Amino acid sequence: MFGIWQDFLANIATQDKLAKWLQTLPNDLQNFVNSKEGEEFYKHLKKLERFQNFKSDKFNLNTEYVSFGDDSLTERQKIMTKELFKDLMPWRKGPYELFGQKAETEWLSFKKWDRLLPHISSLKDRNVLDVGCGNGYHMWRMLGEGAKQVIGIDPCALFVAQFELFKRCISNTDISSRINLLPLGIEQLPELNSFDTVFSMGVLYHRRSPIDHLYQLQNQLVPGGELVLETLVIDGDEDTILIPKDRYAKMRNVWYIPSVPALKILLERCGYVDVKFINQEMTTIEEQRPTELMITESLPDFLDPKDPTKTIEGYQAPTRAVFTAHKKGK
Ligand SMILES: C[S@@+](CC[C@H](N)C(=O)[O-])C[C@H]1O[C@@H](n2cnc3c(N)ncnc32)[C@H](O)[C@@H]1O
Repeated sequence: MFGIWQDFLANIATQDKLAKWLQTLPNDLQNFVNSKEGEEFYKHLKKLERFQNFKSDKFNLNTEYVSFGDDSLTERQKIMTKELFKDLMPWRKGPYELFGQKAETEWLSFKKWDRLLPHISSLKDRNVLDVGCGNGYHMWRMLGEGAKQVIGIDPCALFVAQFELFKRCISNTDISSRINLLPLGIEQLPELNSFDTVFSMGVLYHRRSPIDHLYQLQNQLVPGGELVLETLVIDGDEDTILIPKDRYAKMRNVWYIPSVPALKILLERCGYVDVKFINQEMTTIEEQRPTELMITESLPDFLDPKDPTKTIEGYQAPTRAVFTAHKKGK
């Protein structure tokens, strides 16, 4: 009934902490399948069928271009792979390499990963949740760091389909069963209190209720578990928070951009302990730019042409900060 998530449902039924998710998850997946977004998803999955015999036990998850399979394709198969990438556009997060063919994505997502990896607790043998994971680029990097299980949630059908393309190429099912992306929003998660590390990257500023978001993330962690939070910030003191009047860097859905000191207070008010600001960096046009697989506007179009330290609306240009924080307990 739930097609590709059947094995995942059977798997969590055997896990003490996650089994209670079965009270809501089957229903949520069924609602997705019946929705317009679900229809969209199955159209994308159909495109993957032409690739169904391409499987390999070779992959490299600890590299900038997360790669699957070796460079063994015929010229015809190479063209087919490139066409499949085009059929699944736009490609935002990555980059990837599939049987030697590169998918150049809008974001060089390894730059974000490199900024945070040295500062977070080792992911080895951890249960990890990535909230708003896009097509799962960072999930593969988490698995590459030795996570026991990586679960991502993102409600966008296209991103889930892009993820499935790579997951299906892995012939070793022991590996592929450890990584799953579900088409859900954070608001659909019950309080699972089950994950050793929860990532929320690029999501907080999109949430209308950022404080609720921080509580929702906390409710997914085991006591003592680690939140890795990455979000837009602006310069300023404890009292500085930007609520854009309308668009921010042309995005309609940006609600809340705190300063680093304000965000620290917010995390502490929400009950997190051991809150650490890790680093911040203004996003560059090397990190976010249009490519042949993402041909619409990108960062260069969102900035003031005369002053790239400002957005086109006159706000501080996108600057992203990383925090770690822990749930009380243990
Ligand atoms: C800016 S992207 C960040 C992607 C990735 N985490 C990263 O840092 O590169 C925000 C993602 O949040 C997803 N999203 C939107 N609404 C969401 C929700 N209610 N719950 C979880 N994710 C959501 C979007 O589909 C999108 O993929």
